[in-house]
Amino acid sequence: MPKLKALFATSEVAPLVKTGGLGDVSGALPAALRAIGVDVRILVPGYKPVIAQLAQHRVVATFDNLPGFPPARLLSGKMAHDVPLLVLDCPVLYQRDGGPYQSVSGVDWADNALRFGLLSKIAAVLGCDESPLDWHPDLVHCNDWQTGLTPAYLHFSQGAAPSIVAIHNLLFQGNFSPETVSELHLPPSCYSINGVEYYGKLSFLKAGLFYADHITTVSPNYAKEIQKEPLGFGMQGLLATRRNELTGILNGIDTDEWNPATDPHLAKNYNRARMAGKAANKEALQIRMGLNVAPDIPLLGVVSRLTHQKGLDLLLEIAPRLVELPAQLVMLGTGEASMEKAVRDLTRSYPGQISAHIGFSEDLSHQIEAGADMFVMPSRFEPCGLNQLYSQRYGTPPIVHATGGLADSVVDCTPKTLGDGSASGFAFLGMTAENLFATIQRAIDLYHDQEKWKALRKNCMAKDFSWQRSAETYRAVYLKVLGRQE
Ligand code: ADP
Ligand code: GLC
Repeated sequence: MPKLKALFATSEVAPLVKTGGLGDVSGALPAALRAIGVDVRILVPGYKPVIAQLAQHRVVATFDNLPGFPPARLLSGKMAHDVPLLVLDCPVLYQRDGGPYQSVSGVDWADNALRFGLLSKIAAVLGCDESPLDWHPDLVHCNDWQTGLTPAYLHFSQGAAPSIVAIHNLLFQGNFSPETVSELHLPPSCYSINGVEYYGKLSFLKAGLFYADHITTVSPNYAKEIQKEPLGFGMQGLLATRRNELTGILNGIDTDEWNPATDPHLAKNYNRARMAGKAANKEALQIRMGLNVAPDIPLLGVVSRLTHQKGLDLLLEIAPRLVELPAQLVMLGTGEASMEKAVRDLTRSYPGQISAHIGFSEDLSHQIEAGADMFVMPSRFEPCGLNQLYSQRYGTPPIVHATGGLADSVVDCTPKTLGDGSASGFAFLGMTAENLFATIQRAIDLYHDQEKWKALRKNCMAKDFSWQRSAETYRAVYLKVLGRQE
């Protein structure tokens, strides 16, 4: 049996460029697939930091005459774990200061349809007879709306490989004006309900969900939730129709990158058998963040985009009551201006007890996972969520709203689950500030019972969230789509 070949098209890949979990997944899943024998190559746009970090590269293709698109080149490079990388170099579209999707001031790039139209188009070219490369993928694995048009382009190409679309977050759909259809040189006929049209717009994500051969999403529970209101965000009908071609696969984590025993960002390394280092990390975090150094006051950690999805407004609402308990709170995040302001205001009201860094900081995110006593994630919805997985690995029990992948990956602590060793955090249903407060209080009560708390932390650290099992499931989906057996 020849080796299975997959093109993994993505708009971000850690550590080169990352705004959230998609970057983490794109950095780790291809490596895990390669480890089980799948020949995966990653396609990513040549944003400024990507080109800057590309040590050695070769030009492997040029695209001078793609109708509707500026000239572009394909550069080849390597990621860690030897995963081959194809970088889509088109300076007028990608070489700018700011993020992959937005300017420095947080405004979406006005030409995002063209920027991700090109990414989608090139992924499709590489997956069909037109490809200038010698390497021809058996299948194209697309991720989120930014590569959602790939299955549509493939549908209208000769010799097209099948495609998969992975939904990481259905809230982001890439909807643009109807004129975009002709600007991106899609056939006018595809602008229909049986095609790319979605409530009077061209929707990149809808296109993917309609034309892809298979749809995956990042947890089994979220796969169910998106077939209904409200979490289907308008796509529930289509998703329910395609339920037999929809698979929820829980994300894994990069266990080298997120390993408290070796993590270079930590004040002191520790592992499940030797937990002593955790206290040193708490103290270092309290000092770094200007909190009162207090080993016995429970320290709650947050690392998150500060958006409505993440539900942190509830935490901010109850923060004054938490301080009274007492508890401390440390937050790292960026996002909506109003929420950033609310966080800053709280830190001013409670110096020494509530502290925050508004910004993106890889090392501080690791230090919070290690130094906090518990990790708070009250997301309104969460396709998978990675931080609750990192926090379990770091022996920092998560406190979560039982939705999406949070419900799939955190076992609520009760006398029974603590007794049988399955408990790994605290989960609540009913998205209210009162429920969140009661759950944090429940966690703090257990925290003061040292023996039980120790048992819970050990349970967390014993969990296996490595990518291997999920990679096997992706491979099974690939084989199913290809109608192959092994
Ligand atoms: P989402 O992708 O919805 O933001 P996830 O939990 O899947 O949520 O992934 C978020 C990822 O981004 C995690 O690796 C998290 O540590 C990281 N992250 C989020 N905000 C920040 C920040 N301000 N600084 C550093 N890392 C962050
Ligand atoms: C999205 C989701 C998050 C998920 C991540 C990676 O950003 O919001 O829940 O973990 O993608 O799949």
